[in-house]
Amino acid sequence: MDLLSALSSRRPSSLIGTLLACLAIILLSRRLIRLRHSRSLKVPYNQERVVILGASGGIGRAIAHKYAARGARVCVIGRREVELAKVVEECRAFHLSHNTGAIRAGGSTIFSVAADFTNVEDMVHIRSTVEAEWKGLDTLIVCAGVSALCPLMEVAGLERHGQTFTPAQATMEGIQRTVNVTNAAVKGNYVGPLVSAVTFIPLLASASASPSILLVSSLAAVIPPPTRSLYASTKAASLMLYQVLAIEHPEIAFTHFIPSTVEGDFRTSAVDSGRVREAEPNKHGLKREAVARRCVEAVDEGERMVFMPVILGRGGQIGQLFFPAVVEWIARRKYRFSAI
Ligand SMILES: NC(=O)c1ccc[n+]([C@@H]2O[C@H](COP(=O)([O-])OP(=O)(O)OC[C@H]3O[C@@H](n4cnc5c(N)ncnc54)[C@H](OP(=O)(O)O)[C@@H]3O)[C@@H](O)[C@H]2O)c1
Repeated sequence: MDLLSALSSRRPSSLIGTLLACLAIILLSRRLIRLRHSRSLKVPYNQERVVILGASGGIGRAIAHKYAARGARVCVIGRREVELAKVVEECRAFHLSHNTGAIRAGGSTIFSVAADFTNVEDMVHIRSTVEAEWKGLDTLIVCAGVSALCPLMEVAGLERHGQTFTPAQATMEGIQRTVNVTNAAVKGNYVGPLVSAVTFIPLLASASASPSILLVSSLAAVIPPPTRSLYASTKAASLMLYQVLAIEHPEIAFTHFIPSTVEGDFRTSAVDSGRVREAEPNKHGLKREAVARRCVEAVDEGERMVFMPVILGRGGQIGQLFFPAVVEWIARRKYRFSAI
């Protein structure tokens, strides 16, 4: 009797039981394999050297707290020096209050560098500082990014009335403004991650026993959201860049982290000065602390593609394949967008 007829001759309840048992065995063995290759065996938590790009606020700041709390060496990057100084103080407090030992000799445990991650000179300066302090790097978190909140025609200065616009065509100034806003989005969401990768990949690969890079991308990079054309397309570009880099550099564990809306001030920095459309992101969004915890866990476990929440990410992907109209309807509702 072949496997198919053996399975078909069984009662449905015992078949479901067998399938569930197989699933449990697969999940358990994956967990065991991960434990065997546990990164902490190669890079103990209190030895880990972590650079976080975009840590003066938001998710990056919460990630810095997590690493500091378990005794890692942490370098926080952002452009606002005053905020960075506060993050360094917070991280030092976390470091000590969690009884992870005194500030270690041989290089600063926690420090900041004020820098723009799209600026080549700034990034080379960070690398030299990190090399001088720690002689290498284990974990790079690329978290900085910018938002953009308007439908593209609004960026060009057109008001929509169903099928027609006022003015009837985009003006030269309007098209130029669209180009300028696009350049800002490309700079913050694509050029920054690109410069980060080129600057740090050789250092990570050569100086760590278990090098890792985590890119904070967005669900918008995977499931198209109306009113977010520039944000979604520039985040999708950097996601694809890092997906290709993961293949080109198998010696480095890449994690692509894909959250839905997160609480915080991200939308106030919109490069198109657009208004927030979704319902109270600070009430309904993911909590920064939970996002940070999941980011650190994903790096520890060497996970490649992480959706948060899983159901929205994976469900959205499957929905796009089989029910694209439903996914588009949900996206229109979320962003309160109507094309009529
Ligand atoms: N918030 C959400 O709903 C959400 C959802 C999905 C994905 N994401 C992604 O999550 C990431 C972080 O979002 P967030 O909510 O934490 O935003 P946030 O609160 O605005 O924080 C952004 C951080 O990035 C830094 N930054 C921005 N541009 C920079 C530059 N050119 N050079 C250096 N640092 C820069 C900012 O610091 P300075 O201003 O001091 O430079 C700040 O520390 C972004 O990549 C975003 O696309 C956010």
